[in-house]
Amino acid sequence: MCGIVGYIGHREAYPIILKGLKRLEYRGYDSAGIALYDGTDIKLSKTKGKVSDLETRLENEISTHGSLGIGHTRWATHGVPNDINSHPHYSNSGDLVIIHNGIIENYESLKKELIKRGYNFKSDTDTEVLVNLIEDVKKNENIKLGKAVQIALNQVVGAYAIAVFDKNKPNEIVVARLGSPLAIGIGEDEFFIASDASPFIEYTKNAIYLEDEEMAIVRRNKGVKIRKIKDDSLVDPYVQALQLNLEQIEKGGYEHFMLKEIYEQPSAILDTFRGRLLSNEGIIKMAGVEDNMKKFLNAHRIIVVACGTSWHAGLVSEYIFEDLARIPVEVEYASEFRYRNPVITENDVVIAISQSGETADTLAAIKLAKSKGAFVFGVCNVVGSSIARETHAGAYTHAGPEIGVASTKAFTTQITVLTLIALRLARAKGTISSSDYRHHLIELELIPEKVKKALESDAYVKSIAAIYKDVHNFLYLGRGYNFPVALEGALKLKEISYIHAEGYPAAEMKHGPIALIDENMPIVVIATKKGHYEKVVSNIQEIKSRKGKIIGIVTEGDKQVKGLADHVIEVPETIESLTPLLTTIPLQLLSYHIALMLGKNVDQPRNLAKAVTVE
Ligand code: AGP
Repeated sequence: MCGIVGYIGHREAYPIILKGLKRLEYRGYDSAGIALYDGTDIKLSKTKGKVSDLETRLENEISTHGSLGIGHTRWATHGVPNDINSHPHYSNSGDLVIIHNGIIENYESLKKELIKRGYNFKSDTDTEVLVNLIEDVKKNENIKLGKAVQIALNQVVGAYAIAVFDKNKPNEIVVARLGSPLAIGIGEDEFFIASDASPFIEYTKNAIYLEDEEMAIVRRNKGVKIRKIKDDSLVDPYVQALQLNLEQIEKGGYEHFMLKEIYEQPSAILDTFRGRLLSNEGIIKMAGVEDNMKKFLNAHRIIVVACGTSWHAGLVSEYIFEDLARIPVEVEYASEFRYRNPVITENDVVIAISQSGETADTLAAIKLAKSKGAFVFGVCNVVGSSIARETHAGAYTHAGPEIGVASTKAFTTQITVLTLIALRLARAKGTISSSDYRHHLIELELIPEKVKKALESDAYVKSIAAIYKDVHNFLYLGRGYNFPVALEGALKLKEISYIHAEGYPAAEMKHGPIALIDENMPIVVIATKKGHYEKVVSNIQEIKSRKGKIIGIVTEGDKQVKGLADHVIEVPETIESLTPLLTTIPLQLLSYHIALMLGKNVDQPRNLAKAVTVE
């Protein structure tokens, strides 16, 4: 997720774009850049680092004059954060310059074709491929920029919000969107382009939000012409008068980043398997796995090292890897692993999971494993982070920045990546039939829509939160794939509402925790139809006989638990290995609403940091 800003009008573009980029840094902040048309040529400056680093660089690098410009603050997906990979990107001729938020899935094949036609590339990004594809079409067809963009985008597979201009036609900016947001601010003889309205809300409250597969040509003094990318047909612009304030816009209209990120999970999961899960062809494509397939297939075991929520995702992966790929897995708290003098050999594959890519204990565990000859594979959300650089290979979650301290979309996108890896290895080892394999791919592809459905229980979950917000203890129970989800649900509640909560394997109740149960104790029981359902039902009956208050997380349409529990929250049906991606949703919402009702700081809970970069 990156931030894009553009301006064309009668004012100096630079100050508007720079301030706009600062407003969008919550969308990505590993590198930034600006391109301005100064009346004769394009002046471009870009740098690894924050917008403030760009500002410092700009002070003495380029003239910041000009009333046409574009700017970008990056959250890397292809190409590590460095000056060269930062946006904007020039076309080979230097006539065009582009900024882009999204992922072009077929950029490698497009790049190969363009190289054959004599194009060269300075960066590793998909964006530089796109701007040269547009240039190639424009030159070959001898057409205007807008038409060239329309033709080029019909060759592109993936997600984008782009802004591009031609120094030979400095009275227009061309923009387009598919899968990534793009807003056009309509001022008095001036126009603003941005990922959301925060960069221009102080100048105008009139905005057009492009729909998917729409593009627009924004002309100085002439206005906005919107077209369908597919067939170039004209679209009537719908200008909205915005009511949101700046803070609400940064949070996408949600009250907190945590809630925004909970609701971003359908798109975050989709972005994470985009270009990797090709269910029509029945294949999973992950370069980091393909390039190291032998190491994975010869591994005597997989050791997962992580902390907190990432450790819970690792625990889910233990069930997935052993169940599907039949590879022994050990899941270790990184903080314990690094000090307990573990037995590690070169036959071990270590998978390090970390949203921030900066967790000190996980980084130390990686270095220990490497020193003993193990192959280390990283699953991170921050491109170019310390852990991403320290591991031998890896696969990124494409969740976009997670600002709320309580991890939500990180958890579900980590499980998504780990599921893809396990399925790919199971296929390679022949431990899964091709029909089962295809079934898993199709079910995984349906998950974003099923997460959206699970989110529809939000209001009902909020009503349950109101009943139990003042209790002092919660118990979370789950079996099999959902035992780690019980742990994760308890952690969510603890870390933002400060209510004590414990997660347990449901069958463990009889070995102690059942002594805790009385009419004051709410117990969340994950009782989806898949996986030991009858056994969980008998656990529920044991709780009921002790007057415990039962909140059941059930498969939609469930009748049996409904007849036993005090409340049931339904999630859509899916295959057993994918249930954690759905059952965790109501638990995230429950903790959010309880914390909010208790007046806690949901996004920055006390004593916690987003990344624990010290021991
Ligand atoms: C979870 O909600 C917490 N934010 C915390 O447990 C976190 O998962 C843990 O600190 C690991 O962070 P990482 O994924 O960035 O390594």
